[in-house]
Amino acid sequence: MSRLLRTIVLALLLACTALAADDRPGKAAIASQHYLATEAGHEILAQGGNAFDAAIAVGSVLAVVEPTSSGFGGGGFWMLHRAQDGFEVMVDARETAPGAAHRDMYLDENGEVNRDLAVNGPTAGGIPGEVAGMQHIAEHYGKLPLAVSLQPAIRIAREGFPIDEKFRVLMGWRVETLKRWPAAAEALLVDGDIPPLGHVIRLPDLAWVLEQIAERGAEGFYAGPVAEKLVAGVREAGGIWTLEDLANYTAVEREPIRTMYRGYQLVTAPPPSSGGVALAEILNIIEPWPINEVDPVLRTHLLVEAMRRAYRDRAIYLGDPDFVDMPLDRLTSRHYAAGLRASIRPDVATPSSMLAGNRELREGADTTHYSIMDADGNMVAATITVNTPFGSGFMPPGTGLLVNNEMDDFSAKEGEPNEWGLIGFVANEIQPHKRPLSSMSPTFMIGEDRRAVIGTPGGSRIITMVLLGILDFMAGNEPESWVALPRFHHQYTPDQILAEKDAFTPEQIEALEAMGHKVTVRDRSWGNMHGVMWNRETGEVTAGSDPRWASGRAIVK
Ligand code: GLY
Repeated sequence: MSRLLRTIVLALLLACTALAADDRPGKAAIASQHYLATEAGHEILAQGGNAFDAAIAVGSVLAVVEPTSSGFGGGGFWMLHRAQDGFEVMVDARETAPGAAHRDMYLDENGEVNRDLAVNGPTAGGIPGEVAGMQHIAEHYGKLPLAVSLQPAIRIAREGFPIDEKFRVLMGWRVETLKRWPAAAEALLVDGDIPPLGHVIRLPDLAWVLEQIAERGAEGFYAGPVAEKLVAGVREAGGIWTLEDLANYTAVEREPIRTMYRGYQLVTAPPPSSGGVALAEILNIIEPWPINEVDPVLRTHLLVEAMRRAYRDRAIYLGDPDFVDMPLDRLTSRHYAAGLRASIRPDVATPSSMLAGNRELREGADTTHYSIMDADGNMVAATITVNTPFGSGFMPPGTGLLVNNEMDDFSAKEGEPNEWGLIGFVANEIQPHKRPLSSMSPTFMIGEDRRAVIGTPGGSRIITMVLLGILDFMAGNEPESWVALPRFHHQYTPDQILAEKDAFTPEQIEALEAMGHKVTVRDRSWGNMHGVMWNRETGEVTAGSDPRWASGRAIVK
């Protein structure tokens, strides 16, 4: 190589390095369901942590201050994007069925599902995954030890936190269940009832559990005194967990579902979540249509018809990838979507009962989501859950944590709706050590000009909320807009459009009904979406927290 050429190559390399060095957000954004969690994430970033360490801090604080929604007795999914090499992965810390679980474990002598056993108390709990997920993230992707990232959660569990309106509202739905379990009632209720606004809850037992994890990593939870208390508590109250179930739990890395939509790559949750497959299917169906430009009634109709078809496939085909073969290539292909698109009439609703395969169906919702981007561009989309508010309501004595009721995300009986009205069949039947099918859809949107993180809790409606958020992002809007949008939803069965109060005008509802849709308007809103975005063209970093609940917080700094 001539000297001149060498100089030119060197200059180009240096220019590229300088560009790469500048190609970072420069600021960090965190949006979560609780201000204490968002602040804890920034605290850990300030101590030299990256987005992955911050995810542990945010998640562990949420586990303390929002037993409503997630916790160490539950599990979830973390989507990770590493800025330095663009590596992406989903850490699957979904709960697993205990070893003694079996297909018909919730059926009574008449073959009917005993909903109480499936939803309330220790019989409803899968083996928790959240701690294994955090350990995995700290070990493989973080910069700080768990002992540091867990400090804010330990502090808050010891010192206490004031309860807010959301806590009280959700407790209203589950207080009777919490009352049945003395440790839960003692830790969370005041005089056996819902505490007043601002009441400070301290969880010293949970602080002790956190300290065990800080000292010994996941071992501190899945073996030793914490594991012994968990198993003894569950079994004494009628559950089937064993020490072996806990010792054998592992978090798993999964390749995300990737799909292109209008120039952006969506990187989203693979099975055992149904979210990514359903999102890819819906976006592939609607891709040729100028969906953000057409009349609102037609837009709703087309989106609902795509949702209907994707939720049908969710029910039939999806389950734990370690147990079932799924035609993922077909479900996420454009050819398949073209066939489904051709079956959609522009002016008439397709009754769900007319779709082929109306047999094998299923799913789950209080849950939490947080979105993080650090100053280097590392990103985390985390959706974590105990399933319904306060999970199973059962607290093993001495642990301060609530056991999930994720077993209800399995199909307890073919075609029988679960807590969220979802049905399921063979692919999602109960088997020992299997993961129940989820709807949690933590997602990245990655384009040349903008990068973003989005997600929400909300059971079966998670997928359609994320879809509407994605379309709002595509329309050029900011996180504050995605998270506030009025929501509508269709999940194949029941055959209806569920709508928030302000989603449609009376005239729009009339027009949809004239096309054959049934529209049910709910008084109660749903979801709790949190998103962050980096606009690489303007250099701006923005974040938004769902305005439906006052406790959420988005902070950029
Ligand atoms: N438990 C809610 C879900 O995983 O979809």
